[in-house]
Order: sequence, then structure tokens, then C-alpha cells
Amino acid sequence: MHPKSKGAFYITTPIYYVNDVPHIGHAYTTVAADILTRFKRLEGYHAFFLTGTDEHGQKVEKAAQERGVDPKAHCDEMVKRFQSLWQRLNISNNDFIRTTEARHKKVVQKILQDLYDRGEIYQASYEGWYCVPCERFWTEKDLSEGKCPDCLREVVDISEKNYFFRMSKYQSWLIEHIEKNDRFILPSSRRNEILGFLRGPLEDLCISRPKKRLMWGIEIPFDTDYVTYVWFDALINYVTGIGYGSGENSFSDFWPQAIHLIGKDILTTHTVYWPTMLNGIGLTPPKTVFAHGWWTVEGKKMSKSLQNVVEPNRLIDIYGVDAVRYFLMREVSFGMDGDFSHSAMIHRINSDLANDLGNLFSRALSMVIRYFDGAIPTPSSLKEIDQRLQDVSGKVLAQLPIQMNDLAFNKALVTLWEIVSASNKYVDETAPWALAKEEKDRPCLSTVLYQTLESLRITALLLAPFMPSTAEKMWSQLGMETNLWEQRLDEGGTWGGLKPGKRVAKPTPLFPRIDASKIGIE
Ligand code: MSP
Repeated sequence: MHPKSKGAFYITTPIYYVNDVPHIGHAYTTVAADILTRFKRLEGYHAFFLTGTDEHGQKVEKAAQERGVDPKAHCDEMVKRFQSLWQRLNISNNDFIRTTEARHKKVVQKILQDLYDRGEIYQASYEGWYCVPCERFWTEKDLSEGKCPDCLREVVDISEKNYFFRMSKYQSWLIEHIEKNDRFILPSSRRNEILGFLRGPLEDLCISRPKKRLMWGIEIPFDTDYVTYVWFDALINYVTGIGYGSGENSFSDFWPQAIHLIGKDILTTHTVYWPTMLNGIGLTPPKTVFAHGWWTVEGKKMSKSLQNVVEPNRLIDIYGVDAVRYFLMREVSFGMDGDFSHSAMIHRINSDLANDLGNLFSRALSMVIRYFDGAIPTPSSLKEIDQRLQDVSGKVLAQLPIQMNDLAFNKALVTLWEIVSASNKYVDETAPWALAKEEKDRPCLSTVLYQTLESLRITALLLAPFMPSTAEKMWSQLGMETNLWEQRLDEGGTWGGLKPGKRVAKPTPLFPRIDASKIGIE
């Protein structure tokens, strides 16, 4: 770890099923995790970011069968779609885990064997209702009008021998853990949901599937007729990814300072199965599991049959990567459901990005080029109005880390835009173009432009986790020669980082305005 590091921080996304191509829901969690990681790095933490793919189980096996290919070949092909999307989205993950990798299989089998040897896993006959798409069993009373209570699809009656993890015995421990750690499940509404769920009896978890029904999984080490239940396999990725069981000390560096970002539909697996599994192997649960909401599309649930699945690559082609990242984080408060629409996207780009930020940036640079031949002027003594602008940055710098700590991405962006609005107002009120007319106003003009550019430098620094390429562009056009990604909030956020005399670049528009009629939307 870097000697100046504030400590370690571990951030994960769910590992995505490779039964289909990535959509906006996958992009959402991954972008959020990336922003959080980049922000933590900016704060000086040694942040490790893991994402990956969930490649076993019935869903993937079925998808491969339908395409007439071998499951591993199918995974190898699909995983590329995720990896190339993450590259296009500028995702800065430190590792990418695939559950079909040997490093992962080894850990899953080791954990299973250990639990089995200690009597935490036992074999029993099971009769129940099984939902194939959800890959889980339900009891008669769980069913909703005879169908799966989660997805409302048909269930099948199954009777077979299986292996079970003694999850039920951890129920009271889990309740106590949730009650004692108010940041374990966030937002708090989700915490209440799980505490409510735990008021009913918690059953043991079926962790195997007979090979006669499913071949595509990690073989159970103590019974070769079975493979591992896909969720038991998948959840373990979070510890495999940082070297659990490999003898490397990176694991103890990061665990349990972990934040798992997930969607609301996979809350139970992450806040009931996962912590009990961890407790079973003697590990403390992660610090936080944060469940975000779901996106609908133009008011409707996203589904293949409605053909309204939003393909992130297409959005990037139309709007550009940073506009997509910005929209996803700005439009909806993290934790709530939200609606994607092209009109909302275009509105955000034109008003917040092109108008508020982009115009301000080009105006400011153009004035430095026109009035000072491109050299950053030296500020003279500050008037109250100049100081006020500087104070806005100070306030924002103090507030943003608190909001980011709460994963309130949209609030953080609103806060950051306070600098942008204050700077726009400042430029309007100080009217540098008028100051430029009189030689006696030169010192004033220098101060105004310096203050504006310095606000923009701090904006670029704080924007970097959200919009990495835009921030880089701003940073270099402002004449900053340092590497943006080596900046730390405390030093980089200190007022006065711009060096008078350094040359700014000729501005290129950060965000061209979008005309809906010209891009064939609607
Ligand atoms: N493979 C499991 C996760 C295992 S983690 C140990 C899985 N994969 S998934 O590909 O089906 O879904 C991944 C994530 O996408 C989930 O967090 C889910 O909430 C999210 N989303 C799927 N559709 C979504 C929306 N429409 N909106 C937002 N997120 C959505 O579950």
C-alpha cells in the first residue's frame, strides 16, 4: 500500500450473468462503483475495484444450448461484450473475475469441503417447488397463485436428495448483526425489509444441484454427482477476487472494508445468504451492501419482449461516454427507481453539460486567450465578490465527501454544480468583457479570470470520478501539467493550484448541444 494511503477500500459490483448482452442496468451499477472507487482514490484511499461475470448455472447453460454452443465457449464469447463495454465506459476496475476461472473454483471447493468437514453442510431429501429462471426452491406457502413469488413464472415439483448449508442456525446472529451495524444494509428501507423477512423462520440453504438436472457448475468436492448452486458459487467471487485462500495478504488488507453495490432484486442473497456463509467460514460480513433501484425505460419495464432494452453501447455512440455516466448518476437518487428516456437525457446534456458547464469553460478560456494571449493572469487583491466565489468551492469541497460516503451521487453532483452556477453568475456580474475595455481595470480583469479558471480547475478535479475524460480534457486545457489521476483532494482542492503564466489551450466544446430531430430519436 502507498505510504500516504488513508487505508484500504474494497468496492464490488454484482458479477453479471453471461446469458445475455449487457444492458443499462448492468452499466448503472458498474458506473456507480467506478465513480465511488475513483472518488475514494481521490480522497487518498487504496481502493480496489472488482467486477466480473457469473458464468455457471441453469440460465447460462440454457442460453448456450439455445445457441447450440458449448457453455464455456458461450461464456468466452459473452464475457467479451462486458469487458469491452467496461472499457468504453472508462471503468477502472483492478480485476475482473470469471467464476469459471481455476482460482475461483479452487476457493469454492475449499470452502465447501471445509463447511462439510465441520458438519455445516449435510445431505437431505428435498421436495419442493422449483423455479428454473430464478434457480431456487419455494415451499407451497411461498407460491403466489401457484407460481414463483419473485418472477410469477411456472414452478416445477421436484423431489431429490441435495446438500444443505445450515443457514437457519445463523438467524439470530444475523438479526443482531444487522441491528448493531446500521450501515450494513443501505438504504435503511432495505434494512427494514430484510429485518422484516427475518421475522419469519430462516430455512437451510440448498447448495447443490444434481448433475442429472444441471451439468454446468462447480463440482461438489465430496460428491461428484452434484454441482454447486450458482448463488453459493457466485457470492464467493467477492473473496476470491482479493486472494482469499491463496495465501496472499491482499485479502486481509481489504476485508471487511468492502462495499458491495447491488440491485434491489438481489438483496436477500447478499444480506442473508452471503453474511451467513461468511460467518460459517469465520469471516466478518462486509461493511456495507447497498441496493440501488431499477430503471424503467420510457415508463415501461425493460424487457426483451417489449424490445425496449437499452443498449449502453448505443447510448455511448449517440451521446458520448461522459454524458451517459453523468445522466445515470444525476437523474435518479441512488437507491430509488428511475426512468430512462431520451428526452430526459437530451435535456440534461443540453442544460447541465452543454450550457452550464461547457459554455462557461469555453467562455473563460476564450477570454484568457483574447485578453492575455492565453497566459493565465496573476490575480490581484480580492474583492468581496471574488472571495465569495472562492468560498463556494470551499463549501463544496467540504460537503462532497460526506455525500459520497452516503453514496448520494446525485446530491454530490448537485453540490458540484453549485460551483458551476456560482461561476456563471460571477462572470455575468463581473462582466470581464467590460473590464477589458479600460486599462485601469486590468488588475480586476486578471482577478476575475483567475478566479473563474481556478473554480473550473476545482470543478475538473471533483468531476474526475464522474466524467473522467471530460475532466482530463479540462485539466489539460487549463494548462495543468500534473497527472489528474495522481491528485489528492486535500492538496489538489486547495485554492491557488493554477499557476499564473501557464498557457491555456484553445477550447474545444466539451459537450455539443444535441438536437433530437437530427439524431433520429423519437
Ligand atoms: N449473477 C447475478 C449476480 C450475482 S452477484 C454475486 C445477477 N446477475 S444479473 O446479470 O442478472 O443482474 C445483475 C444486476 O443487474 C443486478 O444487480 C440487477 O439488479 C441489475 N439490473 C437488472 N436489471 C436492471 C434494471 N432494469 N435497472 C437497474 N438494475 C438492473 O443477478
